[in-house]
Amino acid sequence: MNLKQAEKTEATCLLNLYKPVRFPMVVEKAQGCLIWDSDGNEHLDLVSGGRAVTVLGHSHPKVVEAVCDQVKKLIHTSNDFYTEPQLRLAQMLYDLSGGMRSFLCNSGSEANEAAIKLARKHAFLHHGAHKHEIVSTLKSFHGRTFAALSATGQAKFHKGFEPLMPGFAHVPFNDLPALEKAVGEPTCAVILEPIQGEGGVYPAAQSYLEGAQEICRRHDALLILDEVQTGMGRTGKFFAYEHYGIQPDIVTLAKGLAGGVPIGAMLAREPAASSFTPSDHATTFGGSALNSAAAVAAITALKEEGLIDNARKMGEYFLDKLRSLQEKQPLIKEVRGKGLMIGIDLAKPLAAAVKAGCHKRGVLIISASDSILRLIPATVISASQIDQGVEVIGSVLQEAAGS
Ligand SMILES: Cc1ncc(COP(=O)(O)O)c(C=O)c1O
Repeated sequence: MNLKQAEKTEATCLLNLYKPVRFPMVVEKAQGCLIWDSDGNEHLDLVSGGRAVTVLGHSHPKVVEAVCDQVKKLIHTSNDFYTEPQLRLAQMLYDLSGGMRSFLCNSGSEANEAAIKLARKHAFLHHGAHKHEIVSTLKSFHGRTFAALSATGQAKFHKGFEPLMPGFAHVPFNDLPALEKAVGEPTCAVILEPIQGEGGVYPAAQSYLEGAQEICRRHDALLILDEVQTGMGRTGKFFAYEHYGIQPDIVTLAKGLAGGVPIGAMLAREPAASSFTPSDHATTFGGSALNSAAAVAAITALKEEGLIDNARKMGEYFLDKLRSLQEKQPLIKEVRGKGLMIGIDLAKPLAAAVKAGCHKRGVLIISASDSILRLIPATVISASQIDQGVEVIGSVLQEAAGS
């Protein structure tokens, strides 16, 4: 299928939701950090399939093998049955998180919905129904379903959908006094991203996450960390919270957890974990044999192939290269991030033009606003691929600066 045919079918058959962000190409196949379109052009993927999902690169051989084997044996049973892949995945997550118990689902939004429900149920059991408020942050992104949307601190996603779910407050990110002021007796949880992703790549300060944990403990509120984007080794640790030496009560994961196969997980530590009892929450597809087998293979590959360490090293390399570029290029105001989660703040609202220019030169990047570029490549990326990416970004910025 060529681009013209794709656009025609989209206009007729699909809801009009993605057109402004779609790259003008039809993807035919992908491997590692490379994507080929239906015209046979090769592209360097610096965004892990667009939205930080293919954290092991496209079609990682271990994930492909596990999916093919599992498909032949068993694709699905509901949670009316035990399956070995689901239990192996739960054990792996338990070990990686130092004893958190999982609810397995299908997406980041679903994981956050589950987290919000667990926080409310926990507070209800221990304090009563009045303790139900959740404090979130401005510029956060937690998903599109109603509770996750209500937690999301960006008005542009709310417009047209009000009234949202009651009981959510939003305070500026990295502002501890504002958090202190907002959390009180009615607060059942605080939800934070260790690095705000969709909002523009803003890492939490060490003192902020430490302080958030202390405030939560003092008010018997749960600390929920949304690691949907930062988890699975992207920042150079399996969970980004490990950089901070804190212990959240709840962590949500999705995106890269099954190497590209849809999945989500809400992990909870005791005592919060025990506040869910049978039928409090459930899902038909979550934790199916197929996506669990893919996740087991993805986590195994991350560990066995040293990919988390590669994310750390390549992240440092990428940031260094971009900061050197910044010295020569006044259009770059700031380069920030951790591991393979990088934001470039531009001095002018040129993000869409730079994205399009990079695409024309075979490099795929995305934006977080008119003036913020985002780079979220896979953990298998090499130094030479980073060099190629930086060279292209540099030449596109040079052109933009001249025009
Ligand atoms: C931090 C974070 N939380 C939640 C979500 C929602 O995940 P999903 O689109 O899988 O529902 C996203 C998606 O970008 C995200 O970045």
